[in-house]
Amino acid sequence: MAAQPANRWVGSAGAGGFDLRSDVMTTPTANMLAAIQNCSLLDDVFREDTTTIELEKHCAKLAGKEAGLLVLSGTMGNQVGLRTLLKQPPHAVLCDRESHIFKYEAGGVSSLTGAMIQTVFPKNGIYLTLEDVQANAITGTDVHDCTTRVISLENTINGVIMPLAEVRRISEWARSHGIKMHCDGARLWEAVSAGAGSLPDFAACFDTLTLCFSKGLGAPIGSVLLGSHEDIKHATWIRKSIGGGLRQAGVIAAPARVAVDETFGTGPNGEGGILRHTHTLATAVSKLWTDRGGKMLYPADTNMCWLDLAASGVNATEMQELGAAEGLRLFGNRLVLHYQIYENRAEVLPRLERIFTKALAGKAPAAASTTEPAPAAEGETKSMYPTQ
Ligand SMILES: Cc1ncc(COP(=O)(O)O)c(C=O)c1O
Repeated sequence: MAAQPANRWVGSAGAGGFDLRSDVMTTPTANMLAAIQNCSLLDDVFREDTTTIELEKHCAKLAGKEAGLLVLSGTMGNQVGLRTLLKQPPHAVLCDRESHIFKYEAGGVSSLTGAMIQTVFPKNGIYLTLEDVQANAITGTDVHDCTTRVISLENTINGVIMPLAEVRRISEWARSHGIKMHCDGARLWEAVSAGAGSLPDFAACFDTLTLCFSKGLGAPIGSVLLGSHEDIKHATWIRKSIGGGLRQAGVIAAPARVAVDETFGTGPNGEGGILRHTHTLATAVSKLWTDRGGKMLYPADTNMCWLDLAASGVNATEMQELGAAEGLRLFGNRLVLHYQIYENRAEVLPRLERIFTKALAGKAPAAASTTEPAPAAEGETKSMYPTQ
């Protein structure tokens, strides 16, 4: 008997179609796998691989930046970007206390750049404002100071959109103080697809930014770092120094290009893309939860639903078990929607409805639910899930 293929994809029929733990759980589509078969297979350390170079140029053009550099992961993109912008200690990077570069990148900022991280709790409980930044950035020249050299923003952060107007305020202030700007834009595609501004609108506020192909866009691997010709040239050295110089990188770039074109879309506002459908689904899922008295931690601006399990009287393990009984993979207090869940929505929504009904039965207060997040207390960590 012929052996079964190991990868029982395709697309939403694969393992990702019922997995709400993260949007990294998508499975590659037939078009992505076909693109791998047709890509150039030349050496990218020698900068000869046309599929890779075309992807980098395309992303740079979409975002209105001069150049791009394929990296293996969002973490690699952030670390290479920050190392590129920083010169030498003493120096500091200011970021949100909830940001990925601080919480989930294995302390890379300190080990790779020698920078001190200045974490800030947003006063509004959701995202940093200029006032938060001004109250915490160190701009002095006193010898005791560790001066802020880079402000790193994350957008979306916890699935919430950092509004373009606020990003602009922070960027203008930073530039007037000689501070560089980096964006962890792993999910900036989501903010753009939701209509928060175009890629060039956001990218103009930053010196460097990362965009991930392997989150909501659905590619198996990869991210891109964007910036000026000069910064990207330097970033290529940094990438090499941490083992990120790739040989036949076309096998990574080809499915990433399909992910950009088909999931995000072909223009800087996500024209023709399917990403925005997941946002409608997130709204529907939140409503299922709040209609039954459940509370939310953050607004479901894009593709994430953060359930306030504690305030709703629900235990995370219990939710996970209820999910498993319905054939859905859940984890912690966050439900993440991606386009392969969207394709299965007719099956997923009734299952979630049953799970929520059981989880909240006799537990949640009957009072009308709200999507307003409670402000974060100093020292409070809102997520009870791990990393992605
Ligand atoms: C906001 C954000 N930035 C960066 C990363 C890092 O991406 P990677 O897992 O590809 O290193 C993640 C991972 O999920 C993320 O959520």
